[in-house]
Amino acid sequence: MSDATAIPDLTARAEALDAADELAKLKDRFTLPEGVVYLDGNSLGALPAGVAETTADVVSRQWGELLIRSWDESDWWTAPERIGDKLAPLIGAAPGQVVVGDSTSVNLFKALVGAARLASPGRTQLLVDAATFPTDGYIAASAARMTGLEVVPVDPSGAAQAIGGDTAVVLLNHVDYKSGRLHDLPALTAAARAAGAVTVWDLCHSAGALPVGLDAHGVDLAVGCTYKYLNGGPGAPAYLYIADRHQAAFDSPLPGWNGHADPFAMTPEFAPADGARRGRVGTPDILSMLALEAALEVWEGVGIEAVRAKSLALTDFFLACVAQYVPRGRVESVTPAEHAHRGSQVSLRTENAREVMRELIARGVIGDFRAPDVLRFGFTPLYVGFADAERAARTLGHIFG
Ligand SMILES: Cc1ncc(COP(=O)(O)O)c(C=O)c1O
Repeated sequence: MSDATAIPDLTARAEALDAADELAKLKDRFTLPEGVVYLDGNSLGALPAGVAETTADVVSRQWGELLIRSWDESDWWTAPERIGDKLAPLIGAAPGQVVVGDSTSVNLFKALVGAARLASPGRTQLLVDAATFPTDGYIAASAARMTGLEVVPVDPSGAAQAIGGDTAVVLLNHVDYKSGRLHDLPALTAAARAAGAVTVWDLCHSAGALPVGLDAHGVDLAVGCTYKYLNGGPGAPAYLYIADRHQAAFDSPLPGWNGHADPFAMTPEFAPADGARRGRVGTPDILSMLALEAALEVWEGVGIEAVRAKSLALTDFFLACVAQYVPRGRVESVTPAEHAHRGSQVSLRTENAREVMRELIARGVIGDFRAPDVLRFGFTPLYVGFADAERAARTLGHIFG
């Protein structure tokens, strides 16, 4: 690709912004292929540099040599809580409230049925983000059938008005997967609490990209994946947050032996463990889990506020470059312009979006496509720079040019 059509003002601004960026050096903590602009960390995060070595050790030494002794000697057994505590600061949770394991879908099931069981008796409704990622809607419908609730779809922007005396549980996404819209977690949680409803937040598209503040805002339960902005790897285990104040009463619909107070007592009756550990189900997926633990090391010394500031600067700059490089009328941003409503991605609506994204990828700019007409560009501040944003917009301009 030639630089002939680069706009000097934009390339100079990118250079200056990259030079002033205190997070720029964090890119060295990742293994990224040369020549690729990677804007799909909102789907699958890049590979942190230390993961390959740790994974090799887990396989060859911990499994291969220590064999079953590793459940104790390599601390495999306690990994779900240990890694939960490592991840907790990134979502504003004090230790002891996050347990890692299973998929987001499975944790959502535990959280929703658990929330319905925590809710005040007599309440009938489960409010669900109408634009939610499909798995949340499917699981919510099943959880509602099991617990006798009625699913009521709500637009999260107006959810505060919809929450009332009949609301048992509210399930919302912090950031919408398609548009990149950031919903007002503090205000919506406060509205739910004021109405006596139990909140469940899906943090898949916010954890690792912006401050979440679960404890500070009084969230009840939350779930999220670790393979996006937390870079845990394909199919990395998800997590479940159970606020301290609910742990004693949290009644998991999947009371597996790992969540038992004394798993090796092998008793016929289930007695839940104290703390978030009661959210565990079966034997943890150790290989993925320890890869995630190694991936979390990239956060050493990194503040989520600085990540948020860079994310907004990157998405602002990308939108400015798109406005200059892409002929007017060819794309329309469906991501809110206001910072208060923007996550860490930019979604552009365009005709032939699938083909446009295929062409972008062929030219070394990797984003993704969501049917029917959305190009998604995820900005992971730990490894994406301003020159990347400029090149992505310029490449898009070439395709339309
Ligand atoms: C908001 C949201 N929830 C849930 C999921 C998927 O959950 P799982 O980890 O079970 O595949 C995704 C996946 O992209 C998502 O974006």
